[in-house]
Amino acid sequence: MPLVTTKDMFEKSMKEHFAIGAFNVNNMEIIQAIVDAAAEENSPVILQASSSAIKYARINYLRKMVEAAIEEHDIPVALHLDHGPDFETCKMCIDNGFSSVMIDGSKYDFEENVELTKKVVEYAHSRGVVVEAELGKLAGIEDDVNVSEQDSMYTDPAQAQEFVERTNCDSLAIAIGTSHGAYKFKGEAKLRFDILQKVKEKLPNTPIVLHGASTVIPELVEMCNQYGGNIPGAKGVPDEMLHEASLKGVSKINVDTDLRLAMTGAIRKVFTEDPSAFDPRKYLTPARDLVKATVQHKIRDVFGSSNRA
Ligand code: G3H
Ligand code: 13P
Ligand code: ZN
Repeated sequence: MPLVTTKDMFEKSMKEHFAIGAFNVNNMEIIQAIVDAAAEENSPVILQASSSAIKYARINYLRKMVEAAIEEHDIPVALHLDHGPDFETCKMCIDNGFSSVMIDGSKYDFEENVELTKKVVEYAHSRGVVVEAELGKLAGIEDDVNVSEQDSMYTDPAQAQEFVERTNCDSLAIAIGTSHGAYKFKGEAKLRFDILQKVKEKLPNTPIVLHGASTVIPELVEMCNQYGGNIPGAKGVPDEMLHEASLKGVSKINVDTDLRLAMTGAIRKVFTEDPSAFDPRKYLTPARDLVKATVQHKIRDVFGSSNRA
């Protein structure tokens, strides 16, 4: 099946109340792991590359590896730019065959975000590409913001409605308490489902995106630490909350950190157990297998997208 946009998969997700996993890709092993997992689950999937991933892997390699991956399978796959920082990066991805881009104007004030997003939407839509935008700010515990600062960072539902109407973006990332990386909460994990509900009331037909949505799977953190890593106190969004989000209107759930942990844990294990190993296939094969199992678990047990291809 050729590369698709997220339009049809999002429509289905909103009608049937499930979420689609958007997994960050940086190299061949990660792409293969994600697409193989999604194919086994007969699930739609989004492969997303950040601008630093594009710098690392190079855009031609990424696109061609994704093309190779979709030739092998018959499931809907979208190729998406994650956190596009400016118009030029979005344009580069659109011109290079991505089917979806994110313009992340969340660092700007509302009016600047609207203007930038509109510019990207105009360029993208005229070329059949869809656009994710972001409103609200994701703050991690490392950002050390106080409660009232945190409150002002959550997405305002009325502003979200105005933003979507004025920009005509295809999907919207909102801030309801998640953050990027392995340290999301100091105490109990907490998401503002009340804000999600209000946004969905205002925007029933707009697919909603959750960034910073890794579970920071305890077994994977333990595995990294057991084999020489040092990632103390890491904490993410529990599976139950992500499942609830998938039922309550989140259409796209972004995952990068959990794949990094899986890859790193598996590689550390090989090196610890066999210090004489130096064939990359010897450590990249179990790494790819563990990334695949991690993706498959999320698709099947958390996001509910199995058999929705
Ligand atoms: O949200 C950011 C993703 O985890 C990508 O991270 O910019 O290090 O590739 P990166
Ligand atoms: P995590 O760091 O929680 O995996 O979030 C990834 C993300 O939001 C990519 O855009
Ligand atoms: Zn993100």
